[in-house]
Amino acid sequence: MKKEQEELTYHVPVLLKESVDGMNIRPGGTYVDVTFGGGGHSREILSRLEKGGRLLGFDQDEDAERNIVNDPHFTFVRSNFRYLHNFLRYHEIEKVDAILADLGVSSHHFDDSERGFSFRFDGALDMRMNKRAGLTAADVLNTYDEERLADLFYLYGELKNSRKLASVIVKSRASGQIKTIGEFLEIIKPLFGREREKKELAKVFQALRIEVNQEMEALKEMLLAATEALKPGGRLVVITYHSLEDRMVKNIMKTGNVEGKATQDFFGNLQTPFKLVNNKVIVPNEEEIERNPRSRSAKLRIAEKK
Ligand SMILES: C[S@@+](CC[C@H](N)C(=O)[O-])C[C@H]1O[C@@H](n2cnc3c(N)ncnc32)[C@H](O)[C@@H]1O
Repeated sequence: MKKEQEELTYHVPVLLKESVDGMNIRPGGTYVDVTFGGGGHSREILSRLEKGGRLLGFDQDEDAERNIVNDPHFTFVRSNFRYLHNFLRYHEIEKVDAILADLGVSSHHFDDSERGFSFRFDGALDMRMNKRAGLTAADVLNTYDEERLADLFYLYGELKNSRKLASVIVKSRASGQIKTIGEFLEIIKPLFGREREKKELAKVFQALRIEVNQEMEALKEMLLAATEALKPGGRLVVITYHSLEDRMVKNIMKTGNVEGKATQDFFGNLQTPFKLVNNKVIVPNEEEIERNPRSRSAKLRIAEKK
């Protein structure tokens, strides 16, 4: 496959212009893309950099390394973005002008049958973004107790029948481990009506993926580190794809903490590290959704460090 084609099929960038415009790029500034993926956003940022400009691109998935851009302004960091603070220090960067996060998995993850992210394919129940990390989806399904499973389906998948789901999974273990997506689907499909089956399965898979990759914990740590790392006037630009992520991002931008607890000074003024750039979330227009249906659930929020 030609390089250009490969890059296009790895991932189509979402809200590209809106998000990179939101970073307020100065040609000589220092920037971080914490979710490099197919490199679509990073390439757009690099096209706006000149002498002295710098971009650090993070991705925890080694597959993303095939998209590394050969550009003197660019440095790739193969790591979880929860270690943002450490890597900025390692690269002798004190403060940055903007940080972009385009959260979740890439199309490449869903389209690669071996990674276990999609119920369209049979295969191992893996779902690790970092192939060197320990816990797989099979480990979660075969070792967590019923209550822990129910909690994760409820919290991360917002599934109404999370208790039933957990109970069916735990009962099925009596006849052996759940190893493949096919086996797992056979166990849980009877719980869902035909009509809503795809939507419900998507929620189950989302919940498992969030648990396997500790996505909420990593997001929290990254958002707090990003708040510290931005210069006054620097921008935090985040694209989310589900309500849990969006809530956490909204909270940090409004209050400076992920719980959304407002703190006030002596005079009752709200103490917050950010000023919101857009009060209403930015979403893809119809043309983008038609061209790239995976952009449908995207929400973009931008905040400026005070
Ligand atoms: C939605 S894609 C980003 C796509 C990218 N903006 C582009 O235009 O191609 C998210 C990427 O972030 C990576 N990722 C997700 N969570 C991460 C984390 N905690 N640390 C590092 N990389 C992460 C995934 O491996 C995936 O490649």
